[in-house]
Amino acid sequence: MGYRVVVAGATGNVGREMLNILAEREFPIDDIAVLASRRSLGTEVSFGDKTLKTQDLATFDFTGWDMALFAVGSGPTKEFAPKAAAAGCVVIDNSSLYRYDPDVPLIVPECNAEAIHGYSKKNIIANPNCSTAQMVVALKPLHDRAKIKRVVVSTYQSVSGAGKEGMDELWDQTKAIYNPTDDVKVKKFQKQIAFNVIPHIDVFMEDG
Ligand SMILES: NC(=O)c1ccc[n+]([C@@H]2O[C@H](COP(=O)([O-])OP(=O)(O)OC[C@H]3O[C@@H](n4cnc5c(N)ncnc54)[C@H](OP(=O)(O)O)[C@@H]3O)[C@@H](O)[C@H]2O)c1
Repeated sequence: MGYRVVVAGATGNVGREMLNILAEREFPIDDIAVLASRRSLGTEVSFGDKTLKTQDLATFDFTGWDMALFAVGSGPTKEFAPKAAAAGCVVIDNSSLYRYDPDVPLIVPECNAEAIHGYSKKNIIANPNCSTAQMVVALKPLHDRAKIKRVVVSTYQSVSGAGKEGMDELWDQTKAIYNPTDDVKVKKFQKQIAFNVIPHIDVFMEDG
C-alpha cells in the first residue's frame, strides 16, 4: 500500500526536483497532487512518465492526504502549512520557517532520524538548508568520536538558491551584458548578479 502525497511548490526548482526523486526512487505513492499558486493553475508538471496539472494551494483540501512536501517559501508556508497539518496531513517543510521552532523536529535522516517522533506536536517536520544538510552528514561521525564545539562555515550559494526568478535574472542580465543595446535590470537581487558575487542571501537575521 502506498501513500497519498502532496507536493506544494511543484512548478518551482525544488518542487520539480522532489517530483523527479519521488519517481526515480519509486516512492510508494497511491495518489499524488501537485500544488502551486493560483497563477499556475493547470500548469503541467512531469512525474515520471506522467503529466500532472497543478492545483491552487490556497483552495486545496488536505483532508485524507498522508504527507505534503512544502517548497513554496516561508510566506506561503506560514499561511498554508498549519492548515494542511490541522487537516491531518504531515507537512515536511523545506523553508526556513520552522527550523528554530522547538515543537518541530529539524531532521537530517543520516544524523537524527530518531527525532522524527516529535513531529506529532504540530504535524510538521522541518529540514535545514542545503549547505547545512550535507555538512552535518560529514560532521556527525566526527562529532560522535570527538565532540565538535564550534564550526566556522563560509558558503558560496548558487543563484538557483534564489529560485526560478533568481535564475531568470542571471540569464537576462547575462544576455543584456552581451547585447550593449539592453540595460542590465536589477530586480530580485540587491545588485547585479551576473559576473558578480554578492555578500547577501535571503533575509538578514538578528544575529547578523
Ligand atoms: N531545504 C533546502 O535544501 C532548500 C534548498 C533550496 C530551496 N529551499 C526552499 O524551498 C522553497 C522553494 O524554493 P525554489 O528554489 O523551488 O523556489 P522557486 O523556484 O521560486 O519556486 C517557488 C514555488 O513556490 C510556489 N509559490 C510561491 N508563492 C506561492 C503562493 N503564494 N502560493 C502557492 N504557491 C506559491 C511557486 O508557484 P508559482 O509557480 O505558481 O509561482 C513555485 O512552485 C523556498 O522556501 C526555498 O528557501 C530549500
